[in-house]
Amino acid sequence: MLATAPHPPTLKGRPFIGVLPEFRRAAPQFLLKVAREHGDIAQLRLGPQTVYSIAHPDWIRDILVTHQTNFIKSRMLERAKVLLGEGLLTSEGELHKRQRRLSQPAFHRERLIGYGASMVDCAVHTRETWKSGATLDISREMNHLTLAIVARTLFSADVSGEADEIRSALTDVLGLFELVLSPFSEWFEKLPLPSVRRFERARDRLDQTIYRLIAERRASGRDAGDLLSMLLLAQTEEDGGMSDKQVRDEALTLFLAGHETTANALSWTWYLLSQNLESEARLHQEIDRVLAGRAPTVDDLPNLKFVEMVFAEAMRLYPPAWGIGRRNLTEYRVGDYLIPPRTVILMSPYVVHRDPRWFPDPERFDPDRFQPEAAAMRPKFSYFPFGGGARVCIGERFAWMEGVLLLATLGQKWRLRLAPNARVETRAMITLRPKYGMPMMVEAR
Ligand code: HEM
Repeated sequence: MLATAPHPPTLKGRPFIGVLPEFRRAAPQFLLKVAREHGDIAQLRLGPQTVYSIAHPDWIRDILVTHQTNFIKSRMLERAKVLLGEGLLTSEGELHKRQRRLSQPAFHRERLIGYGASMVDCAVHTRETWKSGATLDISREMNHLTLAIVARTLFSADVSGEADEIRSALTDVLGLFELVLSPFSEWFEKLPLPSVRRFERARDRLDQTIYRLIAERRASGRDAGDLLSMLLLAQTEEDGGMSDKQVRDEALTLFLAGHETTANALSWTWYLLSQNLESEARLHQEIDRVLAGRAPTVDDLPNLKFVEMVFAEAMRLYPPAWGIGRRNLTEYRVGDYLIPPRTVILMSPYVVHRDPRWFPDPERFDPDRFQPEAAAMRPKFSYFPFGGGARVCIGERFAWMEGVLLLATLGQKWRLRLAPNARVETRAMITLRPKYGMPMMVEAR
């Protein structure tokens, strides 16, 4: 027996800061380089923290599924509680289990059908505002569209009147998240910095809107068929329903988790289509054949298989949730290595999705990788844009439906071309955004 457990490859970096600067500059690309140079497990010093990066699908499955009870969310999401309270994304243990049970019916198939109609309505509205030859920031367009959809499916509200206010509050809030999530954030948060105050003001503004919507709905007592009604109507046998604060936390969680992710996935999809004209032509053919000129409905989804494969392949290359973090409650073995309790473990879909063992010639855009036979040959967690286990994305079906319906509705009328001189780079915040937006010219088809 060994006297001490072996250490995995370790990137110590510079004194005190470790490899934090490289990580902050472009975390997904940095983690990819680490995996390519050092293999499926590596230890990184990020300032005061030691983080393990894990990149083998079987080890990821063990953490997210097989041994999931030995893990809690990473510190990054715990820090997100300053905004999201104890919503689904951030809560743990029994509270999470209860909230998940209460929220699940809002995502049942019958409910999703109603949301699908709202998605197409909003997309039709968007495509009618576009003018042929105009150059638009498609990332902004997609954000507006998915925000309108989540507002409509969550609150039945046409929040377009309040949309600008909500949007600017959300932007401030997300902007400050970077600070909140940095390794020294506990200190920053206590300082009276202008950015911290701006964050608090933005959060208060969002809260006011949300509590008002909750109060109006409770007073009316009606089931509007939206997510808010489901949250308010949800009851457990033991202890009744959710408090206003709990509904607020869940609603804000869905608001945040439910729009930026999908918007980014769509922006990257439009970009990739503009660079891969053969795939774009196949996408158009399928849309035209299946829809024959009418707007799509949820019934068309089973026939829009190529559109779905395009969306899947875009989320392979640009997974909106580029990193999933956990901490182990007790010592945990990965291969030959022992990870000490409460270590941050990072699993990056961006890294695993670009591993040539599962995706040969990984940088190439090829939707046929998602033909069912090809997908069945790969290990399960070689592709995990929605995570896995008990914490798998509750909105996964919602997101697939939204992605396919929006691509079909917009692609039916428009083709998008990257603006000359556009700079396309990633920016890894909580989600993987296009750093400089996505300026594209829209051309009528
Ligand atoms: C392309 C779009 C989306 C992607 C890539 C995505 C990705 C993810 C991932 C990876 C997780 C798990 C995080 C972890 O295990 O630490 C997650 C959780 C979650 N997502 Fe999504 N998501 C998307 C869309 C949505 C939508 C549309 C909604 C809601 C309408 C949503 C709501 C949530 C919630 C509430 C959780 C927490 C679930 C729990 O812990 O019980 N997401 N998402």
